[in-house]
Amino acid sequence: MKTLSIRRPDDWHLHLRDGGVLAGVIGDTSRHFGRAIIMPNLVPPVVTTEDAKAYRERIMAAVPAGDRFEPLMTLYLTEHTQADDVEEGKKSGLITAVKLYPAGATTNSHGGVRDLDKVMPVLERMAKIGLTLCVHGEVTTPEVDIFDREAVFIEEKLEVIRRRLPDLKVTMEHVTTKEGVDYILGADRNLAGSITTHHLIINRNDILVGGIRPHYYCLPVAKREHHRQALRKAATSGDARFFLGTDSAPHVDPLKECACGCAGIYTSINTMSCLAHVFEEENALERLEAFTSLNGPAWYGLPANDEMMTLEKREEAVVYPSKIDTEAGLITVFDPKFPLHWAVR
Ligand code: DOR
Ligand code: ZN
Repeated sequence: MKTLSIRRPDDWHLHLRDGGVLAGVIGDTSRHFGRAIIMPNLVPPVVTTEDAKAYRERIMAAVPAGDRFEPLMTLYLTEHTQADDVEEGKKSGLITAVKLYPAGATTNSHGGVRDLDKVMPVLERMAKIGLTLCVHGEVTTPEVDIFDREAVFIEEKLEVIRRRLPDLKVTMEHVTTKEGVDYILGADRNLAGSITTHHLIINRNDILVGGIRPHYYCLPVAKREHHRQALRKAATSGDARFFLGTDSAPHVDPLKECACGCAGIYTSINTMSCLAHVFEEENALERLEAFTSLNGPAWYGLPANDEMMTLEKREEAVVYPSKIDTEAGLITVFDPKFPLHWAVR
């Protein structure tokens, strides 16, 4: 049997939610991942260090007994965020990054940033203290086509932020375009990007051909095939600037399967099987560890996990549930549309 041993992976972009959903999904992450950067877009969002502390406690209380898991907390940047609070959060060791959601870009982002000038004092402080800005890189201007939102954000917003604050470390989260990949490759420092599992597997046809498939709808929305190919090349290249951020984003089925369905794909449970498949297809299995377990911690200035994970390629396909059952309702699991033979031992 073919096996592969890698350092235990981390997830550098994860939605855990709260309450019944949190309780239902946390085990799927803590089973495989040592750490995860936790997104703050709850209702209401996690805006202060105090909010993050309380949320961290709720997460830790939900981790199944026996699992070793460390949530890395983020703050949701608003036009009212206080630089001193952010600095205190970083100094106390609680806060790993601050998240910029352009207002209206995605789920629970209405409290996000409309005017970048208003958050400049906070960004300046972050540059000074070495705290990373995680960016949902899409403009929300109604005139801009949804498939162009990322490319336009890079040109009109990200480039401006980075010119004004060259010392600010920026993670371009869930990169979905060739323009995003090229922008990261062209930066000499202080820029890296996370890539999701699903954007390596689906393109926009998967959402729209033969009927609307709400369980493949996420934001940034999946793009054309050549973008998916660029993402695969970047993820499997071993380049230290690219690492895994699943953006696993659970929504209960009624909120996905309706006239105005939520964005988000739930991948925590089968991500490692999917990624091993993708990396094998790209003849890059020896670089899976860099993507899932080494590049992310290096970027965030943390050691790689001590523990190892072994993946094995089985004759029989590994079967994951098509849905998970939570106190809040059923959540559909990402279907990669190919059989998965790599299993986590
Ligand atoms: O698909 C997404 N779902 N993209 C995001 O940016 C947010 C996320 C969520 O919170 O559901
Ligand atoms: Zn996300």
